[in-house]
Amino acid sequence: MNERSSYYLTTPIYYVNDIPHIGHAYTTIAADAMCRYKRMRGYDVFFLTGTDEHGQKIQQSAAAKGLTPRELADRTVVNFQELWKALDISNDDFIRTTEERHHRTVQAIFKKLMDQGDIYKGKYEGWYCVPCETYVPESAMGEDRTCPDCKRPLQMMEEESYFFKASKYTGMLLDYYRKNLKGVMPKSRYNEIVSFLEGGVRDQSISRTTLKWGIPVPGDDAHVVYVWFDALINYVTACGYLDDRVKFEKFWPEARHLVGKDIIRFHCVIWPIMLLALGVAPPVSVFAHGWWTVEGEKMSKSRGNVVDPFDMAARYGTDPFRYFLLREVPFGLDGDFSEAALVGRINSDLANDLGNLLNRTLQMVDNFFGGTLPPVEKAGPLEEEIARLADETLAEVDARMEDFAFDEALKAIWAFVSRGNKYIDETMPWTLAREEKGAELGVVLNTLYDVLRLSAMLLAPFMPGTAARMWDQLGLSGAPADMRYEDVKWGGREPGVKVRKGKVLFPRIDLAEWRKAREAESKAPAPAKEQPAIEHEPTVGIDAFRAIELRVAQIVEVGEIKKSKKLYRLTVDLGYERRTIVSGIKEFFTPEELLNKRIIVVVNLQPATLCGVESNGMLLAAGDGTHTALSLLTPDRDIPLGSRVS
Ligand code: MSP
Repeated sequence: MNERSSYYLTTPIYYVNDIPHIGHAYTTIAADAMCRYKRMRGYDVFFLTGTDEHGQKIQQSAAAKGLTPRELADRTVVNFQELWKALDISNDDFIRTTEERHHRTVQAIFKKLMDQGDIYKGKYEGWYCVPCETYVPESAMGEDRTCPDCKRPLQMMEEESYFFKASKYTGMLLDYYRKNLKGVMPKSRYNEIVSFLEGGVRDQSISRTTLKWGIPVPGDDAHVVYVWFDALINYVTACGYLDDRVKFEKFWPEARHLVGKDIIRFHCVIWPIMLLALGVAPPVSVFAHGWWTVEGEKMSKSRGNVVDPFDMAARYGTDPFRYFLLREVPFGLDGDFSEAALVGRINSDLANDLGNLLNRTLQMVDNFFGGTLPPVEKAGPLEEEIARLADETLAEVDARMEDFAFDEALKAIWAFVSRGNKYIDETMPWTLAREEKGAELGVVLNTLYDVLRLSAMLLAPFMPGTAARMWDQLGLSGAPADMRYEDVKWGGREPGVKVRKGKVLFPRIDLAEWRKAREAESKAPAPAKEQPAIEHEPTVGIDAFRAIELRVAQIVEVGEIKKSKKLYRLTVDLGYERRTIVSGIKEFFTPEELLNKRIIVVVNLQPATLCGVESNGMLLAAGDGTHTALSLLTPDRDIPLGSRVS
């Protein structure tokens, strides 16, 4: 058996001083689609994401919240981890820069570079931007000595610092890029980086004495390693640079980084120079994607227009959100996010094109053949043309993915889906049925079935949940994500498969209703500054509310659930009966804090099995939406257990 090729892809590691927004979701979704795609192409994939937890920004943010940096990091990291679950991200590892494995790797690398004379001690004086944690050269400053990136005032700082001899390796990196034209992607960024390198690179200050929250410089505790020097190293920590050389030799030569356009100098200049100094090859590619604005404006907390990816996925579905981000804008360019555009894509591409093709096809298999795909007769020229398009689509998706052109790959898939819809119009299966042309009808339905089967496979990297639902409705076993491209060939369907028409994939969003709801939301009083905007659920009638049966209960037992960091198994007493509730509140309460507490429980919720334990109800709690605080709802005075809440 051939050894499988390796593929290593990373996202940036995200700062833990902020809650996740669409910028974070964007890179991670793109990386996920690519990794899922590569797995289906037979690669042995290592997909890494994580959090950047050291440095001044985190230290300041924590102090402002009255927390230690560690506490802040521990709380915020959960937001990212939860988001990746909500967005169906299939990362193989999650690295936190506060982990011991990383600490050791950074120190070992620092020491190696120091021992070989590439790090020296000097004095650094310069204009420093605290929020961006970077010194800004005079030539790059904005008006009135402001930071060119965040526009805030710079501070003059002088400190003893360790320097990394980046200048020594500039020529070597230029040579590397001249031979590796995809070392930086897209091409415009490649040109930008090459011309920057031609201007020369200065030695880099890589330690700080002005803060404590970082990894100490080995042998000199007065200094901590500069946060970017520390952060970049995560990419080799996680793939075993220090601890697992077999893994490192396997994945590193195939490393690629996805980053936003704002951080390419760190990734395309400093990081590869660090690697060259270590005698390690730079990554195969760094791809710099564009930035999202929101309805034409820069996204910012002060404008109150930060798009919350949890919210988008909850309102519109994880897959439509993933699809929109990857389809709407070419990956290297800036784009504009608007819910109206997202709704437009849901109605046209997802409901109309894809959803309808599935629905119509399965309906016909049901109506004309009792749900069982008939045996195929000989296909004609039209079917051969579609079979050719299937091959071309596979090749096109392949080529586009190689260039991270997710939008183009999706366009190719949609051209295929649209061909399927057009084929229905051309062949008019209802007429064939009426005229009792069973053999021809069989050919048509088999062809449509194959368009859908291949589309589900092609879509699996982008919309994993949808692909799985399609797979199921097509009556196929297994999951499309577990398929290899070679396994799903045109015409390779099982004979006599029984389809299982299910719920429509994407219900159409009624635009008039949607606009009304949006207007009502926008008329609500503006939220106070710095407060996240409150987005209410649609209004419900009193009957709908009454249908939810809420009762007072008491927690009488708190149990652990094996393998779960988040869940408790609670036994609650309702006075008239006891029942088990599984609740995701473990990170917020100790068992002692919960025991004997009186709470409010939804008693008529459909049972659900979580981590193998059946939960019969749900307790009520209030959260601040950031996953950092939770408060249980309790009755304010003594009232018998089982009392109804209304
Ligand atoms: N911690 C550093 C990265 C270290 S990697 C060794 C960092 N973190 S970050 O949390 O501030 O940002 C991470 C990513 O979010 C960057 O790639 C950035 O480009 C991206 N985005 C932030 N705002 C964005 C948009 N509005 N649109 C798209 N991406 C944006 O930088």
